[in-house]
Amino acid sequence: MSDAEDRKARLAWFHEAKFGLFVHWGCYSVLGRGEQLFSRDMMPPAEYEPLAQQFRPGGDWAPQLAQSALDTGAKYVVLTSRHHDGYCLFDTATHDFNAAKTGPGRDLVAEYVQAVRAAGLKVGLYYSVVSWRWRGFWDPRTYADELPRLIEELHTQVRELMTHYGRIDMLWYDVPAVPGSRTPGAETWTGSRLDQSPEAFYRTAELNDQVRRLQPHILINNRSGRPEDFGTPEQRVSPEQDPDRAWEACMTLNYAPGWGCLKHSMADKSAGEVLYSLVNAVRLGGNFLFNVGPTAAGYIDEREGRVLRLLGRWLDRHGEAIYATHPGRIYTMGQFQGPGFHYGMFTQRGRTAYLTLFYYPGDGLVISRLGPALRSAELLTTGRRLTVEPMSNARWRITGLPENPPDPLAPVVKLEFEAEPYPLPQCDASWLNGDFRDTGPAGTR
Ligand code: GLC
Repeated sequence: MSDAEDRKARLAWFHEAKFGLFVHWGCYSVLGRGEQLFSRDMMPPAEYEPLAQQFRPGGDWAPQLAQSALDTGAKYVVLTSRHHDGYCLFDTATHDFNAAKTGPGRDLVAEYVQAVRAAGLKVGLYYSVVSWRWRGFWDPRTYADELPRLIEELHTQVRELMTHYGRIDMLWYDVPAVPGSRTPGAETWTGSRLDQSPEAFYRTAELNDQVRRLQPHILINNRSGRPEDFGTPEQRVSPEQDPDRAWEACMTLNYAPGWGCLKHSMADKSAGEVLYSLVNAVRLGGNFLFNVGPTAAGYIDEREGRVLRLLGRWLDRHGEAIYATHPGRIYTMGQFQGPGFHYGMFTQRGRTAYLTLFYYPGDGLVISRLGPALRSAELLTTGRRLTVEPMSNARWRITGLPENPPDPLAPVVKLEFEAEPYPLPQCDASWLNGDFRDTGPAGTR
């Protein structure tokens, strides 16, 4: 098998899954002020580390989390096994600032893997390449002697994660910054050991080769300084340059943003906005990784729980418009917005297209600029069969829709075409005379 074929086979489940749950959780959750506080608030370790003693997860946090992921319709979960603060949710031989040797007194990664696996979901681990605990990370010239140990810690911890918990489906690295890259004056270090790519400094080619030997089926994201299996646009939905490359947009509920627990979030998106991003990612061929920041006890709060429930209810009714769909041709012919963009967005599978309506027209929906012939339509939201009639200009009128939106987030109309749908070429002025015809997809005439 070639590398490309191997990658394609490993990515098969990912492309069907579409929707994952990101979980930022650690001893910072105790304060409920996000995941950045150690460095953002410049807390010396003597002030920060006691949080790990106060960090006391409930006994059933992991099965509850797995249940929430299932209920919201996620197909995989990604948990922060270590964030930038260096605190490990797993037992590690490298240092004692970890869950087994502080407040929790347990290996939380073990509990997580077991519960998520038992729920039938794919298991992902987030791991921050940088650790703010090293003086050498901030001042690599004064503390140059720390650098080999800092790199060794990364390699050892990743090996621990890849060997102690059975099958891991995804490794989600973050922030492969070379030590000192944010230190004033770093630009004068040309030619020094620090003037290296993250890949060279952290030896991530070697690291990831080992990961793949231990977990041959694993998917690795693009944040170890190497492109690996998939891209990770953050807080935005944007496809990779290479249309064949997999990607996953990750996003928080709040705009601020905070990924860890937030007691008081002041700028949340609505469930409708979150769903819009989910559908937007899926129609363009990507995945959507929606984030939650559980409380220190490990439970999802009402702010995020409410949105998860709404998404779950929507996916329960409309999941076939999302899972295992593919981008098809509708948005791949140079029309980023595509047909019907002012109603909503299409997803598709074979001859079936789904129009998720973010703008509800009431009865008398008009489908235009799409070929070939439309055979039938159904309101997926209620299962009601709709009437399809041809109109001039290669349009179709769909009737039988209720006057008011039948779903609080976004109703979906399911359309069966004669063959796989395609966008009609940009039309000339003939439509003003009612003479515009479907003459096949662009480039086929
Ligand atoms: C940003 C945040 C970090 C978070 C990550 C997730 O880099 O700084 O805290 O873990 O996004 O992609």
